[in-house]
Amino acid sequence: MKTNPTWYFTEKQIGVDYLDSKIAEEYDKEHQSFRNFKAEAEDIVDKLKITKEDVVLDFGCGTGGIALKLTQYCKKVICVDLSSEMLDVLRVKAEKQGITNIETHCAGFLTYHHKGEKVDKVVSKFALHHLPDFWKSIALLKMADILKTGGNLYLSDVVFNFDPKDHESSINGTINNMEDIASKSMVNETITHIKDEFSTYDWIIEGLLEKSGFSIDSKIIEANNFLTYICSK
Ligand SMILES: C[S@@+](CC[C@H](N)C(=O)[O-])C[C@H]1O[C@@H](n2cnc3c(N)ncnc32)[C@H](O)[C@@H]1O
Repeated sequence: MKTNPTWYFTEKQIGVDYLDSKIAEEYDKEHQSFRNFKAEAEDIVDKLKITKEDVVLDFGCGTGGIALKLTQYCKKVICVDLSSEMLDVLRVKAEKQGITNIETHCAGFLTYHHKGEKVDKVVSKFALHHLPDFWKSIALLKMADILKTGGNLYLSDVVFNFDPKDHESSINGTINNMEDIASKSMVNETITHIKDEFSTYDWIIEGLLEKSGFSIDSKIIEANNFLTYICSK
């Protein structure tokens, strides 16, 4: 295997510490309380036209809220996450639910080494913002490389779609909304996100996607500063 140059980025947890097993457990409980993972997975199946023959790779799958639901609609889900603590929660849930068509890999966007056939679909939700912009482009190049020609990418994340001059009011609005739709702890998670993680503008993400070999088929504004891109290779 080719070794990376000395200047290569070292992937580490930035912002919220998902390497803490207590935080991993809490993340799972908290997100199950205000998200509908079945509906999220069905929306992905619908938008990516996932079939029973497809192998799907979920980058930054976390505790598997989406990945485990996707297993019902495809041949296999490859679950990749930097945090073995998040993957531990995912594996316990998979076992309890009798789900066997998964693989789990403790690796980052940049360190994951794909073996075997290319995959049909790549999914990533609320995870790419853990990389600085230049390294996002390297991760996207890698996703394009792992995908079969004609395969699709579902990329959903906290992405800024405000005018730079309006950043203060827009970010304050996003943080205030969290208390209404989720909880006080999600407000704190959002503050950490803005302060320490690497969410960026839509026009930057769109440039990165296009320069990495994807065409953007649709852009969905899910909520204020929360966007989804459906792309093809
Ligand atoms: C906010 S959670 C999202 C989890 C899941 N996708 C969801 O929708 O609930 C972010 C996840 O990205 C993972 N992560 C952070 N940096 C990463 C990296 N460089 N490569 C892969 N996963 C990473 C974290 O460990 C965490 O599980």
